[in-house]
Amino acid sequence: MKREVWASRVGLVFAAAGNAVGLGNLLRFPSKVALYGGGAFMLPYFVALFLLGIPLMVLEWVMGRYAGAKGHGSMTGIMGSLFDNAHWARVLGSLGVAIPFLIACYYIYIESWTLGFAVLSLLGQMPEPVESPDPKTAMEPYVKFFNDYTAPSKLAIFFLLVTLGINWLVLQRGVVKGIELTAKFGIPALLLMGIFLGVVSLSIRGGKGLEGLLYIYTPDFSKVWDPQVWLEASGQIFFTLSLGMGAIATYASYVKEKEDVLKAGLWTAGINEFVEVVIGASIAIPAAFAMFGAMAVPELAKEGIFRLGFMSMPAVLMALPLGWLLSAVWFFLLFIAALTSSLALMQPLVSLFEDEMRWSHSTAVGVSILMLTAGALLSAFLPGFVDEVDFWAGTLMLVFFALVEIVVFVWVFGVHRFHHELTRDVFLKVPKGVVYFFAVVSPLFLLVLLYQWGVVKLPQVLANKDVNIILARLFVLATLVLMAFFAVKSRKRYLSGPHL
Ligand code: TRP
Ligand code: TRP
Repeated sequence: MKREVWASRVGLVFAAAGNAVGLGNLLRFPSKVALYGGGAFMLPYFVALFLLGIPLMVLEWVMGRYAGAKGHGSMTGIMGSLFDNAHWARVLGSLGVAIPFLIACYYIYIESWTLGFAVLSLLGQMPEPVESPDPKTAMEPYVKFFNDYTAPSKLAIFFLLVTLGINWLVLQRGVVKGIELTAKFGIPALLLMGIFLGVVSLSIRGGKGLEGLLYIYTPDFSKVWDPQVWLEASGQIFFTLSLGMGAIATYASYVKEKEDVLKAGLWTAGINEFVEVVIGASIAIPAAFAMFGAMAVPELAKEGIFRLGFMSMPAVLMALPLGWLLSAVWFFLLFIAALTSSLALMQPLVSLFEDEMRWSHSTAVGVSILMLTAGALLSAFLPGFVDEVDFWAGTLMLVFFALVEIVVFVWVFGVHRFHHELTRDVFLKVPKGVVYFFAVVSPLFLLVLLYQWGVVKLPQVLANKDVNIILARLFVLATLVLMAFFAVKSRKRYLSGPHL
């Protein structure tokens, strides 16, 4: 069986943009900015973008192309392919399948809320707005609505199953007819809806929303030395660009042998940043600013990442003319962004089953979706699961794995060989000095982050010994063990399977 390749250049860039652009751009970014002081957040954010984001993005594209040509798409196979399929390399690489899968388990549940809220908005089922200058009063109906919905209600479970079904369908149709096609329609629609809502939000109350945008972009140097801000800004860069988990490399493994991966990587990062710092910055915060005033925004953000997106946004939009429609557009925007990301979170697992275990496509997708369903139900029913798994997979492990990627692909594989791969068939020959620079600076940056998360923060997280939290940790552990098992098990299959 031959591996698929992206059908067109545009399709490939849109698919990769769909991978990176997600809830992170439209919900997580505004919440973090609001929480960590607006302008104070943006300096570390851009430093991390250039020192970690862009180099890792290019690295994953280069390695994905290299391994894809040899028939590998999951990090298990990609890392193995560099070292003659050695056990250690495959087991280490299996982290790059476990991390995206674990993120998918809670991500898909949040995705299903966006679909549910979009449909309920269209059906006129969102609560009526309450006129009040006090944010607490104005938001109250929506807070109650959100809490009832995510309890979880029967409706929430229904939409979760529908969302799982949609993901199954697209993945089943494959890379070109499923993922690429979804992105070709999804990304232009997302850009249009995003720009439209940005304009609406900025112009609320005769342009009062603009103040919110200024809040984000007014530099504030008072917090530049606060390690917490650096930590959160770098974490956001990883999360939003889908880095440190092998998901970009998996998409890159489906390129043609001579694809310009440097260009593709820069486009991916560029589109993602546009949707984050331009569109993402222009919606949720400006809308809340215009309606509730400057003081309210950090307060809203403090009460959790979902506050701005699922409670304050509907409260603002429903109070405008044709509010139900605006609310529907907002949640459909989130849904499309989330859908193209959840596909990317699952594809490494599908690729592991297909390329390494040599299962048929339908079996690979079917088993992946069954595993995801189990994780998604835990997200819905186990209190604290979302935050706990987000810490392990969405925060800590990806910093570690990013370090592994650089050490393995650049240092162990060899700077010379890496540089050769990096400059093959691309529009710009990056000088070797640049590779050396990032090969030293990025790991140092990562070591500092790893120290902060792994040594300073970890004990605080571990102090929570609630039964539900322990269960969530066991789920993380079980996933790691299972993925390592597949890594070892699939080696024989790959080596003896039908060669491409
Ligand atoms: N980048 C996605 C977002 O901004 C989330 C994400 C994190 C992701 N890791 C990923 C998506 C891996 C796909 C693959 O929402
Ligand atoms: N509470 C988690 C956080 O603070 C929730 C979360 C993780 C999340 N990843 C997300 C919410 C992505 C929206 C989008 O990060």
